[in-house]
Amino acid sequence: MTDLTEKSEHVAFPQDRSCPYHPPTGYDPLRATRPLTRIRLYDGRPAWLVTGHGLARDLLVDPRLSTDRTRPGFPATTPRFAAVRDRRPALLGVDDPRHRTQRRMLIPSFTLKRATELRPRIQRIVDQLLDEMTAQGPPADLVRAFALPVPSTVICALLGVPYADHEFFEEQSRRLLRGPTAEDTREARDRLQAYLDALIDRKQRQEAGEAGEGLLDELVQQRLSEGELDREELTALAMILLVAGHETTANMISLGTYTLLRHPDRLTELRADPSLLPAAVEELMRMLSIADGLLRLATEDIEIAGTTIRAGEGVVFSTSVINRDEDVYPAPDTLDWHRSARHHVAFGFGIHQCLGQNLARAELEIALRTLFERLPTLRLAVPPDEIPFKPGDTIQGMLELPVTW
Ligand code: HEM
Repeated sequence: MTDLTEKSEHVAFPQDRSCPYHPPTGYDPLRATRPLTRIRLYDGRPAWLVTGHGLARDLLVDPRLSTDRTRPGFPATTPRFAAVRDRRPALLGVDDPRHRTQRRMLIPSFTLKRATELRPRIQRIVDQLLDEMTAQGPPADLVRAFALPVPSTVICALLGVPYADHEFFEEQSRRLLRGPTAEDTREARDRLQAYLDALIDRKQRQEAGEAGEGLLDELVQQRLSEGELDREELTALAMILLVAGHETTANMISLGTYTLLRHPDRLTELRADPSLLPAAVEELMRMLSIADGLLRLATEDIEIAGTTIRAGEGVVFSTSVINRDEDVYPAPDTLDWHRSARHHVAFGFGIHQCLGQNLARAELEIALRTLFERLPTLRLAVPPDEIPFKPGDTIQGMLELPVTW
C-alpha cells in the first residue's frame, strides 16, 4: 500500500449503521485491513482511514497532521461540513501554538475536580427532569424529555447561557450537525454566531459587580478586557462549547439507554453492583463511539505503517473501528463491564482530546444511574427496529426513544 490514488475499490466513508450500537457492516472489510486503508469520501476524493488502535494514537499526536479546515485540501465527510469550512471553530479547528493558548484559558473549568464539584448540581437537574417526565408519562420520548435537556441545562449553567433560549440553540445545533442542505448548515451557523455575539455584548455591558457566574462571563471580564482574546475568538469558543457541550452527551445518554435496554443481562449486572458504573460508562463510550470520523490533513509527508501519507492528503480516524481493534479489546463486539476499556479513542487523543470529557462522564454516570434507579421497569415502548436513529454522517444517537415504565 503505497499510493492513495492507486486504482482500486475504495470503501465509502461514512456509511449508515444498521444497528445503532455497532459500526456499519459496510466497514467490515476495513476491520480486516488494519491499521490504515484507503476510503472514498462523498465528493469522490480518496483519503486515508486509520483503523488500528496503536497507529491512531501515534498519528493523533503527530504535529504534521493539522485540524485547520480552512487549509486547501482539508477532507470533508459531508457537504454540510464542506459548507462551513471557510471559518475555523475555536480549539478543534486550530493548530498549536494558538490552540494551546486557547485551551489553557479553559482547562481550569474542565478539570476532574470541577466536574466532581458540579455533580450535586447535575444530580438536581437530572432529578427535576425525571420528576417532570414521570408526572407526564408514561410513555415518553426519552430524547426530548431527558437525554437532550440534561446536558443542555448543564452547559447553559456552566457557560452562563440562558436556558430559556434552549429551543433556539438546540435547533441551530441540530441544523449545523444534521441540516438537510449546505445552505441550511451555513445559515444555522450564522444564526448561532449572531445569537452568541449579542449575548457576549450584553455580558460586556454589565458592570463587574453585576456580572453573571458563567464561564463566558469570566472570559469576558478577564480575558477579553485584558486583550488575551478577541471578540471573534471568544464567540467561536462560546459556539464550540455550547454545541459540543450538549449534542454529544445527549446522544450518549439516548444511545446508552437503548444499548442497556437491549442488553438486559448487562443491565441486571450493573443494577446489582453500581460500583461497576464508571467502567460501564467507559465501555459504552468505546462500544458506541458516537463521534466517528475525526478529520485531519497531512501538512508534510509522513512515513508510517509501511506507507507514505503525502502532504496534502486527508486522514480520517474511524473511532468505531479503532475502538474494536481486537488486538487491544478481545471479543470487541461484546459489551463487557470487566474489560479495561480505558485508552479508547471515543474522546479523541492528543492535543484535541475532548475538553469536556470529565463533565461528560459525570453527566453520563448520574443520568444513567438515576434513570434506571428511579424507573426499574423502564423499557422500550415500541419494537426496537421501529426506533429511528441518526444517519452515519453525523454524531451517532437516537432520533427518538419512545419508552414506558
Ligand atoms: C459523551 C460526550 C462527548 C463525546 C463523545 C465527545 C467527543 C469528542 C471528540 C472525539 C473530540 C476530539 C475531536 C478531534 O480530535 O477531532 C472532542 C473534542 C472536544 N470536545 Fe468533546 N465530546 C463529548 C462531550 C463534550 C462536552 C460535554 C464538552 C463541553 C463543553 C465537549 C467539548 C469539546 C471541545 C471544546 C473539544 C475540542 C478540544 C480541542 O480541540 O482542544 N465535549 N470531543
